[in-house]
Amino acid sequence: MSIHTDRVAKKVTLTTIRKMKGREPITMITAYDSLFAKLFNESVDMILVGDSLNMSFLGRDDTLSANMEQMIYHTKAVCNGADLPLIVLDMPFGSYINENEALKNATRAYRETNAQAVKIEGGKSRANIVKALTSNSIAVLGHIGLMPQFLRSDGGYKIRGKTQEDIDTLIEDAKALEEAGAFAIVVEGVKEEAGKAITEAVNIPTIGIGAGKYTDGQVLVWSDAFGFFEDFKPKFVKQYCNGAELIRNALSQYVDEVKNRKFPTKEFTY
Ligand code: KIV
Repeated sequence: MSIHTDRVAKKVTLTTIRKMKGREPITMITAYDSLFAKLFNESVDMILVGDSLNMSFLGRDDTLSANMEQMIYHTKAVCNGADLPLIVLDMPFGSYINENEALKNATRAYRETNAQAVKIEGGKSRANIVKALTSNSIAVLGHIGLMPQFLRSDGGYKIRGKTQEDIDTLIEDAKALEEAGAFAIVVEGVKEEAGKAITEAVNIPTIGIGAGKYTDGQVLVWSDAFGFFEDFKPKFVKQYCNGAELIRNALSQYVDEVKNRKFPTKEFTY
């Protein structure tokens, strides 16, 4: 029996995720509310309450203005809807500028929500922050490669791992996070060979997003995967349905029926 089938009846833990490395691909999707979290509850291994909610939920241009209040509010909602996947709260920009701030904010995330882990963007240069959290019993999911919180300082979203030198830097980042106690690492926006090299270099699972097929798992932002976010579609996004079109068609039918007094009929009337 696969670890996945096994876990449908059980809560996914850090141990489950660690054991999946090299054995069974890990599935992770983002969610921001209890309605969708409930839909995802029995199917995915992990739910990320990503700071991408600042873009797809709040409508801002980037993730940088997300804050702890928002992340806690949405993580509470997700935890209300899903009790089986491992739930991760994404630490927003500015919430882990030093070890004390990181510890204060991550402790708050643990106290006020049922998230089992927090996510932090950054490699070697953030290993001290990861260590400060893991040595205080807070589980950390790392995040390397293209890091949306570095958008302004990097001058744009840049695909990583195009040269051997950069692949080596990414491997150093991944190893530093493993050493600091991260239980897994999100690897975003890297060439496939970089995703493979990073995955082979560490003993903890890698979860790719735009990192090719060799990582230990995959994550997608739900509104991208189901075709609700229409502002742009990165190359790595596969749309599993056209949610926006489904809603537009259903809404236009509703509006049409109300305008033409076809709804409500007797069936929908007390
Ligand atoms: O915020 C987010 O949704 C993320 C994913 C892109 C991994 O960090």
